[in-house]
Amino acid sequence: MKNQVYLYPIWVRLWHLLNALLFLTLIVTGLSLQYSSNDYSLIRFDWAISIHDIAGIALCVAYIFYLFSNRFTSNGTYYQFHLTGMLVRVLKQLRYYSIGIFKNEDAPYPISIDRKFNPLQKISYVIVMYVFMPIIVITGTALFFPEILPTDLFGISGIHIVDLIHIVTGFALSIFMAVHIYFCTIGKTALANFKSMINGWH
Ligand code: HEM
Repeated sequence: MKNQVYLYPIWVRLWHLLNALLFLTLIVTGLSLQYSSNDYSLIRFDWAISIHDIAGIALCVAYIFYLFSNRFTSNGTYYQFHLTGMLVRVLKQLRYYSIGIFKNEDAPYPISIDRKFNPLQKISYVIVMYVFMPIIVITGTALFFPEILPTDLFGISGIHIVDLIHIVTGFALSIFMAVHIYFCTIGKTALANFKSMINGWH
């Protein structure tokens, strides 16, 4: 294990695997619900609702586990950042991904035990996990208990507004997932980061 650092403890790997599987389930059932018609549905409508509900509840539980674990273990420190100079660091990383990497330049922020994420990873994980995830979890919970929603909000049904926010956030997270998987292929080899998420070692 020379030159390797243990970056992904077992709880991160198990949470991440469950989170990814639940996300895929939610995306497929969510798309089926969104685009179903009387003539055609990818998954039977009532099944899609039940699977989406169960996967959504499981995702909420997994997310609460992630929040607590990040709060009470050292993994949370990797998500802390200083706003000062953040834009410069992110732009530097973006420049590396778009130009430097093709010129065989060294990564500006190499991964180490002190720096698990480069600035771009860090900012995107913080936004996704601490902004978008709470939005999708809260709106999903509200849609699960529609009776708590106001019938009229600025002249529009409360359910309608919350549903819209839920769907837009769902699409944003789906786009994140595709971009995230693409960026994960940029490692020492195309599969290196995926192997790290399996065995914990980078
Ligand atoms: C099939 C789907 C997915 C695959 C293959 C995948 C792959 C990976 C890999 C290889 C890593 C380790 C490299 C790195 O740290 O960047 C990683 C980390 C991470 N992924 Fe994913 N991912 C998937 C879905 C998701 C989803 C849906 C989310 C969130 C909504 C997510 C959030 C994260 C976070 C927060 C980390 C860092 C975890 C930590 O070390 O604290 N991933 N992912």
